[in-house]
Amino acid sequence: MCGIVAYIGPREAYPIILKGLKRLEYRGYDSAGVALLNHGLKIYKKKGKVADLEESLIGKDLQANAGIGHTRWATHGEPNDRNAHPHSSASGKLAMIHNGIIENYAQLKVELTKKGYQFKSDTDTEVLLNFIEDIQKNNGCELEEALRIALKRVVGAYVIVLLDREHPDTIIAARKGSPLVIGIGKGEHFLASDASPIIEYTKEVVYVNDYELAIIKRDELILKNLGNEKITPYIQKLDLELTAIEKGGYDFFMLKEIFEQPDTIFDCLRGRLDVTKGTITMAGVQNNIEQLKNANRIIIIACGTSWHAGLVAEYVIEELCRIPVEVEYASEFRYRNPVIQKGDVILAISQSGETADTIVAIERAKEQGAFIFGVVNVVGSSIARISNAGAYTHAGPEIGVASTKAFTAQLVVLTMIALKLAMEKKTIDQDRYTHLINELHNVPEKVREVLQAHQYIQELAEKYKNAKDALYLGRGYNFPVALEGALKLKEISYIHAEGYPAAEMKHGPIALVDESLPVVFVATRDSYHEKIVSNIQEIKARKGKVIAVISEGDEIIPKLANDVIVVPEADELIAPMIGTIPLQLLACYIGIAKGYDVDKPRNLAKSVTVE
Ligand code: M6R
Repeated sequence: MCGIVAYIGPREAYPIILKGLKRLEYRGYDSAGVALLNHGLKIYKKKGKVADLEESLIGKDLQANAGIGHTRWATHGEPNDRNAHPHSSASGKLAMIHNGIIENYAQLKVELTKKGYQFKSDTDTEVLLNFIEDIQKNNGCELEEALRIALKRVVGAYVIVLLDREHPDTIIAARKGSPLVIGIGKGEHFLASDASPIIEYTKEVVYVNDYELAIIKRDELILKNLGNEKITPYIQKLDLELTAIEKGGYDFFMLKEIFEQPDTIFDCLRGRLDVTKGTITMAGVQNNIEQLKNANRIIIIACGTSWHAGLVAEYVIEELCRIPVEVEYASEFRYRNPVIQKGDVILAISQSGETADTIVAIERAKEQGAFIFGVVNVVGSSIARISNAGAYTHAGPEIGVASTKAFTAQLVVLTMIALKLAMEKKTIDQDRYTHLINELHNVPEKVREVLQAHQYIQELAEKYKNAKDALYLGRGYNFPVALEGALKLKEISYIHAEGYPAAEMKHGPIALVDESLPVVFVATRDSYHEKIVSNIQEIKARKGKVIAVISEGDEIIPKLANDVIVVPEADELIAPMIGTIPLQLLACYIGIAKGYDVDKPRNLAKSVTVE
């Protein structure tokens, strides 16, 4: 979390940094700030969104050709002006922005306090900054050297970017565990948490790796490791267009991203699924086929929405491939002592590819010799790079904090992987395989059909927007869809919602049901259909308000439910890709109807790069 941007070159730094911060606001929006270097160091910061900072700076002298900017998701210290970044060192000579957590900051703070340092903020960042300055003072060394020494003592995750008043021609940055991209222009350099602030200036980028330092001037980029050895920067070409990160006429990125799904699913299938030949081409799977098909066990690790995609994958892989699958929260997996055996494969799922818990869980599994297969959306992200092999979801940049199009793309990729393995293992017959790849091929069109019901779903949102709680129920493949629907509602409308397997309801949650409780059933036609009809009856008998997502042609549930949302018929393995769409729309429209900024729900950030 937290977004960082920096610029050095012939242009005005402030407008570039400001625009970049707006693009990175999905990473945090508690406060924002900039430090500009031009005949001295000026720092401006403000509680609130980037727009609040911008407004507070109207009329100020912001001229500078080098600067750093930050948009914050608070960890240490409440969101206020004082705790906003950039921070300045005790002498006022250095300014620093930071994304991550310095876990041993308390110890460092004690040491510095004993030396007489006083702190203006409650942040771990200011502690690290003064620690660096103190080393520089004591050793009489250059900032770069002091930083290297400091980082050897630091425990935690960081991207830090520093400005030094006495060296206005240089920006210094370092990374461990949080993302940092450097854009290389002509006589200029850009730094950012992801490529979105950079793409309109240059497509040439370098992804900085953990334990690397970057010393950046207008015309020069030097990468070093913490041992002071130079590293040749690996320059990559960005495959990203500006339009992909703009709202394209929608009021919210979330809406845009929901409506993009016919295209993103199509992109995800493109070049992989060939229905005429009956093939699925996925190099990451093919090149590691022995390892994958002979897996004794697949352990899926992920967080949030990606974890829900993992739950669907568990059902699909076990059904099609007959490989045992476990689905783990990365945040739990990393802290316990999991048993990893020879032949276990870790399937790590992440939209951002930067989720700290997932990264550490992967590292733990790697230490025990596991093979890591990453299913990631952001190209070049940390998880993509630390995995042994993988497949991108190709959903394009997802900016709305609530994940939507990344989820459906994950389902598509995971289903393709399962089908490919099942064919290799001969655990699926040709007819079922052909049927399922045809079903996959038809998903974009079916999703398009669901989206046509958007006005009706908006009316439902009006009807239910004042609910205090909601229950989401599903069975089988639709149980994770229920979880995902509930998560979406919680995240952006702040209505308390719970997802549950429909059959479990009678073991507890049914006590919640009364005439004020909306209960959303994901009840598309599948092998559990009769069972879920009974569950609906149970809710109706207790006067709950039933909203059911059903398959077209269902004549039973409309007679029971208060409201139905009809979606095209699909095989039960494929149904989650379709049934999830109305739940995304419902949550989004409820959030909008309640007047919330659904792109930036309170307390959340898109990319959770702290534990
Ligand atoms: O980038 P990741 O997929 O690793 O992110 C995992 C979760 O943080 C993420 O899915 C989160 O739950 C979203 N806000 C869900 O909408």
